[in-house]
Amino acid sequence: MNLFRLDASILPTTSASAEIADAAEAEWTAAHPEATVTRRHLGADPLPAGAWGLAVTGGGTPEADRSPAQSAALALAAGLAAELQRADAAILAVPLYNYGVSQHFKSWVDLVFAGAGATTPVLKGTPTVLVTTLGGGYGPGTPREGWDHSTPYLERVVADIWQADLTLVKRELTLAATTPGMEGLIDLAEQERARALADARAFGRVLAAH
Ligand SMILES: Cc1cc2nc3c(=O)[nH]c(=O)nc-3n(C[C@H](O)[C@H](O)[C@H](O)COP(=O)(O)O)c2cc1C
Repeated sequence: MNLFRLDASILPTTSASAEIADAAEAEWTAAHPEATVTRRHLGADPLPAGAWGLAVTGGGTPEADRSPAQSAALALAAGLAAELQRADAAILAVPLYNYGVSQHFKSWVDLVFAGAGATTPVLKGTPTVLVTTLGGGYGPGTPREGWDHSTPYLERVVADIWQADLTLVKRELTLAATTPGMEGLIDLAEQERARALADARAFGRVLAAH
């Protein structure tokens, strides 16, 4: 059994998304102590920024004519796609940055597309928990409703294109305790944290049952 765990926080030591993902992972490892966990931390160890362009242009170049950099990028892309295809379960922890998708996560997705094809369901039927954390709140009626341009993309890729059996665990207001002006939201933020951790444990048990 093999669990694929991906993190994308650029602040790993204080990561709220990692805390939630850890709760789900703990349920998996308790049920499968002999299992392997394959880890990829895109925040701590980003993929090379130029690799995607090299993989795309290399893919359109006959093998004998590829530069060493193109061949290396294609090998990286194929390896990333294979990492997903080997997973029996997956936990992905991806924060919201600048109202959009983490650039490190997007680079990784682009490389997986380059390695496997842009429509290949590399997680077909794989039970997957996607954790996302947001500093603010974006729910219905909030001033910034509709400004979260990350979560819909994450779901589109993981559920619709890669066809994972997806559960989303979203925690909002992670910055309430440390941001002036958000003091009135601290209690709500604590409730969000507790709910997200409970959801992660519950879905971790579902993952573990596979
Ligand atoms: C550079 C940077 C940009 C951020 N941009 C946003 C943002 O646009 N909207 C938001 O709600 N939170 C934003 N945040 C807050 C993060 O979404 C929040 O801190 C989240 O918990 C990060 O995940 P992590 O704790 O796993 O690192 C940003 C944080 C950083 C460091």
